[in-house]
Formats: sequence, C-alpha cells, structure tokens
Amino acid sequence: MDLEKLLTDRLAPAFATVAGGPVDPVVRRSQRADFQSDAALALARRLGRPPRTIAAEVLDRADLADLCAAAEVSGPGFLNLTVADGALAGLVSALAADPRLGVPRTATPDTVVIDYSAPNVAKEMHVGHLRSTVIGDAAARLLEWLGHRVLRANHLGDWGTPFGMLIEHLVDLGGAEAAHELSMGDLDSFYKTARAKFDADEAFRERSRRRVVALQGGDEATLRLWRLLVEQSERYFLTVYDLLDVTLTERDFQGESSYNDLLAPAVEELDRLGLLRTSDGAACVFPPGQVGRDGEPLPLIVRKSDGGYGYPATDLAAIRHRTGTLGATRLLYVVGLPQRRHFEMVYAAAAQAGWLVAPARAEHVGFGSILGPDGRMLRSRAGESVKLVGLLEEAVARATALARERNPELGEAEAAEVGRAVGIGAIKYADLSSDRHKDYVLDWERMLSLDGNTAPYLQYAYSRIRSIFRRAAVPVRPDAPVSLTEPAERALAFELVDFAAVVTEVERSLEFHHLAGYLYRLAAAFSAFYERCPVLRADGPVRESRLVLCDLTGRVLRQGLHLLGIRSPERL
Ligand code: ARG
Repeated sequence: MDLEKLLTDRLAPAFATVAGGPVDPVVRRSQRADFQSDAALALARRLGRPPRTIAAEVLDRADLADLCAAAEVSGPGFLNLTVADGALAGLVSALAADPRLGVPRTATPDTVVIDYSAPNVAKEMHVGHLRSTVIGDAAARLLEWLGHRVLRANHLGDWGTPFGMLIEHLVDLGGAEAAHELSMGDLDSFYKTARAKFDADEAFRERSRRRVVALQGGDEATLRLWRLLVEQSERYFLTVYDLLDVTLTERDFQGESSYNDLLAPAVEELDRLGLLRTSDGAACVFPPGQVGRDGEPLPLIVRKSDGGYGYPATDLAAIRHRTGTLGATRLLYVVGLPQRRHFEMVYAAAAQAGWLVAPARAEHVGFGSILGPDGRMLRSRAGESVKLVGLLEEAVARATALARERNPELGEAEAAEVGRAVGIGAIKYADLSSDRHKDYVLDWERMLSLDGNTAPYLQYAYSRIRSIFRRAAVPVRPDAPVSLTEPAERALAFELVDFAAVVTEVERSLEFHHLAGYLYRLAAAFSAFYERCPVLRADGPVRESRLVLCDLTGRVLRQGLHLLGIRSPERL
C-alpha cells in the first residue's frame, strides 16, 4: 500500500470525528515535511472555527504513532507529516519480498478489448500507426499484468472500395508473384501506382468498379486475389511488429472484413429498434447529443445510398460483437484524435442500441501527431508521410553506432542487440513519455541522449545497478533488514513505495507519461543515492540494506520499462 493511502486512512477517521461527517484529508507529498494535509483549512471555513484549532484537534485524534516520527500543525493550519524511518523501511522490505513489487492483481477484472495498430492492407504503416501500436501495446501489457483479460484486436483496414483498384493493379502486375513483393515491404509504391492508374485511366476505373462488385458478391477468383493482398500485407506488418518488439501476433488480426457477416444483422437490429432514419437515400442513426456547429443533429451513416456499408457500420457491428459475443466490459480504441467525433457518435449509437451498457464502457484512447523538427507534421524530404520501418531502422542504426562508440569492448552481436534495445526503446519511450493528447516533436538527439527523461537514461540506470551486483559477487538477500538514515536513502525509498499508486493511476487513465515520469524520478533518485551513499564500500548491515535498495530499484525499473514494452539490457 502506498504512503499517501496509508496516511489518508489514518487521518480520515480523525477528520470525520472533528467534522461530524466524512472529509477527504487530501494528503500529498510536500516540500515542508514528507507529506502534508491541507484539509483543515476548508473544513475550518465550513465550521466557522480557526483552522489551526481544527488541525490540532485532528492531530489529537489521529492514530499516527507507528507511521510518523513527527506530525505538527504549521502555518495557517496545514498538517505536516514526517514519516518514521522504521515505517518507511518496513514498507521497502515488504516490496522487496514481493515479486509483484507491491502492485496487487485487480479485484475486479475486466475483459478488455484493445483496438490498436490497425494499419491498412497494401498501404505503408506510417508514424500515426506507430503511436497506436506503441500505446496500445503498453495498455495490453499493463492491463494484463494487473490481471485483466486482454483481447488484442488489430482492426486491419482490409475491406472497402479501394480494393477494386488494388486487385486490378495486382492483376496487371501478374498476380501471385507481384503480391509476394508486398510482404517485402514495398507497399507504398504499390498503392500509389494503383491510385495513379485509377486517377488517369477511365478503363482501369471501370475495371476497378466491376472488381468491387465481384468482391462484394463473393466471386471466388476475386476473393483469392484479395486474400493474397491481405496475407502478404499481414506478413509484412508482422515483420514490423517484430522489429518494434510488440506483443501483437498473427492471431490478433481482426480485420474489418471479419465483420462483414455481422453488418446486416446489426443494421437490421437498429432498424427494429426504430433508430434508423433515411437521409439523402442513406440509412442513418442520429445519436443523441451529437450536433454539428449549426446545432443540427449529426448523422452516422450506417448504410450508404448504394446499399454498401462503411467504416461506421463496421465499428458498430464490432462493438456489438465485442460486448455481446466476446463479453468485453472495457473497450479501448487507440486511434488518433482526429477520429474522436467518429467514436463519440459510434459509442452513443451503440449505447442507444443497448450494445454498450454498464458495466461495459468504451474509451477513445486518443493521441496527437508526431511532428518534424520544423514543428509541422513529420514528412519525408519528398513531402510524403514517413515510412515507419525507415524510422525504426534509423533508430537502431544510430543506437548501435552509439553503443559501439561508448563501449568498444562490446562484441558485434552484443552491440547489435544493445543497439536494437536502445534504439527501439528510445522511439517507444519518446512516444510514451509525452502526454498522448498532445503532439510531440521527433528529436533524435534528445531521445537517444543518456541524460534526461529518455529510455537510454533509464536503461543506463538499470545496467549500472546490474553491474553493482556483478562486482558484488554475492547473491542479493531481499530479506536483509533495511535501514534508512541518509536523506538520499529516504528519498529513494519514497519513490520505490510509490510504484503501485502510479501503476493503478495509469490502469485508469492510460496516460503512460505518468509511468514514464515516475521511472525517471526513480532513476534520478537512485543516481543521487548512489552518488552520496557508498554501497559496496559500506560495511555489514549498511551494505546489505543498500544492496536491497539497489536490487529493488533495478526490479522496479525493469518491470516499469517492461510495461512500456522496452527492454532492459544487462550491460550497455
Ligand atoms: N485503419 C484505420 C486507420 O489507419 C484505423 C482503424 C481504427 N480502429 C477502428 N475500430 N476504427 O486510420
């Protein structure tokens, strides 16, 4: 249990007695002592009595003896709380003995469907898919570790009108042979050439239209070509996932086409429920509360005037499937912020249809864009969207060069492995350590720097801890008694006991920059501790106690990085 919570639990009954009803003690870390509670001020206003008196009465009644070395009223009526060294040491010992590092499995497991990555067939993955893939994967890792049942849903864009032109282009190139090229990663030129032919050539356009009809009609030869495109693209995406070190596998592809048979039944149900209205020949739902700038209700088109189903219908059918068939209680959509309105409308419509009702709920885990150094959307020199693999390969190459430079003794294989862990880690961390609601600038120098809030800094801190144990040449005794006397030891201990609270907060918010920021604070506190407090040169019990702190810091760093999908090499 974290200290804020422990202190809150002790203060709350005292506040309740003084106030004659429940009061949140509002405990937080403080500059003045270890913690402070400011709740007496507001309470005093409410009771019309002096705040210092209220604070003193609370202190009289609060049972803090075993937890606090000092508890006093200060200023206008704050409570300053100094945690007893022994109590803090006890908490650290309990963490050290716990393989879960103080983070309990959830008591209320959800079935969570995480819709993430979702690239489009025969199209390159770009940096927007990087964010979805990295954030979604961190969510999957964290929620799974907490004991939730996690279903990864890679909502591959594998259906729709563009497939007419893509299939015709494939036919022109000679079929199967050409499809193989896709798995090798030249998706961009494939898509663009098809697009260019479509724009320039009326006969090709006509063929493409007929091909869409054949595809929708289930024509076997057409389906075979379509499957080729899908399979080869999937194979390519899997190589990217492998490089990116994410947990997505081929079993997680849950393409848009997999909902094809569920579209008509879903739309029929909407109709039966009386939720459909025709607008310009299209069947629409008008979800409550969704109005445009002009105040008019906004339509969600579920069946187009030509009878075809589009993106919104697929998402509606997917929700119905996820809650109704898969039993999902928490639905996460890790998709860029520009699609926010789309998801609001889809959720509102699904709720109206009864497909998204408590305890099930849906959340748009939205994110901003990745910007280039000029502060604009990241583009290649030719002004095109940046190919994701190119970015990843550059990260690995830069990190490998840095690893070789820093540590010439590293063998070829080890340098490559470290370069990969650090390069990919740097890319992922740069993403996860920024507030996902905002845009961020891709800055190679910064993300690969060994100083500051970066993956290499954390990985370095971890490897430094491991090197202590290699030199110590003694096994760790996590049950060795912990004693905390130096301020730097206490500061480190306060960070260590905070891990559970941070993880629990991120479980709810899915704002991974809070976890990243925590790991950075932890590594910085370790660094300060290691500078001021000798470990291997200390004697007997002090040495043992400090080794426990080192080992525990290493384990928390490693687990925290692991939850973010980042490796912790033993040496850098
Ligand atoms: N394929 C889409 C894209 O690349 C993202 C799909 C997101 N998921 C969803 N259920 N709509 O933009």
